[in-house]
Amino acid sequence: MKNHSDADVKRIQSLLGFGEFSARKSYYPELQKRIEELEKLQNLLSGIINSMPSALVALDAQGRVTQWNAEAERLSGLSSSQALGMPAVEALPLFKEHRDWVQKAVQESAVSKKERIKSGTQENPKYYDVTIYPLVQDHVKGSVIRVDDVTEKVRIEEIMVQSEKMLSIGGLAAGMAHEINNPLAGILHNAQIIAFRLSKELRKNHEIAAQCGVTMDIISDYVSRRSIMDKIRDIRTSGERAADIVSNMLSFSRKTEAEFEAQDLHVLLDHTIELASKDYDLKKKYDFRQIRMTRDYAPNLPHLHCVGGQIQQVFLNLLINIAQAMNENKEQEQPPQITLRTALEPDMIRIEVEDNGPGMTPFVKKRIFEPFFTTKRPGKGTGLGLAVSYFIVTKTHHGTMHVESTPGQGATFIIRLPLAQSE
Ligand SMILES: Nc1ncnc2c1ncn2[C@@H]1O[C@H](COP(=O)(O)OP(=O)(O)OP(=O)(O)O)[C@@H](O)[C@H]1O
Ligand SMILES: [Mg+2]
Repeated sequence: MKNHSDADVKRIQSLLGFGEFSARKSYYPELQKRIEELEKLQNLLSGIINSMPSALVALDAQGRVTQWNAEAERLSGLSSSQALGMPAVEALPLFKEHRDWVQKAVQESAVSKKERIKSGTQENPKYYDVTIYPLVQDHVKGSVIRVDDVTEKVRIEEIMVQSEKMLSIGGLAAGMAHEINNPLAGILHNAQIIAFRLSKELRKNHEIAAQCGVTMDIISDYVSRRSIMDKIRDIRTSGERAADIVSNMLSFSRKTEAEFEAQDLHVLLDHTIELASKDYDLKKKYDFRQIRMTRDYAPNLPHLHCVGGQIQQVFLNLLINIAQAMNENKEQEQPPQITLRTALEPDMIRIEVEDNGPGMTPFVKKRIFEPFFTTKRPGKGTGLGLAVSYFIVTKTHHGTMHVESTPGQGATFIIRLPLAQSE
């Protein structure tokens, strides 16, 4: 047993509240009470430390762990009894990756902070704020390290940056579309006129041909031998495709003239599923009936004030994308499945569209809503489906839209729409 010095004895006496320490039996109940009080205090303190949302780790002067709270256990997978006494830099991978910094801060006993430290895997990155504080206790130096998981905060910031970026790209795209619209209309219109003026059906064409000393039969023969009508048709087809793109781009900024009406969202969703399963173009590439569709609808959902056709377009785009993603991923083991989920939130309806398809990499996830971002082969996708959907949800309907996904584990699109629209 340790031999207590006079100073030690005095400290114990003052801690226990005795003026003079004596082993007399009459002090036992008092001693018992004080010990219980100390135990209670200790439990309270560790309760407080353990209920902290931050990981709190105390270190001695040598950088060994002396305190390891519940969040530190969760973060590291090490129990407090395993971690106690370990060098801190070995106890958490996060500290290991920043070993030099942690050791320097502990040695210098200075407050030191690093924000947004990235850890975890590439597919599932985690972000932490780490602060190291000096801890001086009874002239013995040590440190406390606080680790805050800020992954959710970083995610929300990324969404905000993304939505700012989308707004400016959207404005730019809409401006360009507006400028392209008129010359494009000119191209299409004039292609039509050329076709008319080469036709044998119009009397005026025969008159002018005669004035030129030829017949429309000769002209028609020439037109046919040189496949001129086919070329004009090609101009029209390409022009109409460009017009479709332009019209999608215009929707990025245009305030809709369409009517907002109270709609039953579940009816809209059911109708969209029906549309998707009947879409001929889609059917050619993917049979929608192969996908198991689960509808997890909230009961008694109030009506939603929206432009029904546009909201349907959003869900149709999502369903088409899923069908295409699943089609490219035919070797997948589980049967393809889509879950449509609705829920009521304060003033909002939350809709989730979840699939068990191939999912996406963080790179794709970051750019997915950008106009013209596509992973599909040229001619297969324009990369406008989600951009148009994003603007319908956020700009026209003042809602929010984002995606959660891990490669190989499907994707979930989450849309929130306000129940009412303020004019
Ligand atoms: N459910 C999903 N699972 C995996 N990847 C997806 C999913 N939905 C979209 N994507 C990815 O997002 C990209 C962008 O989608 P978006 O609908 O905007 O354009 P697109 O489908 O490529 O072309 P478009 O819709 O104009 O025909 C797709 O190319 C695809 O890589
Ligand atoms: Mg698409």
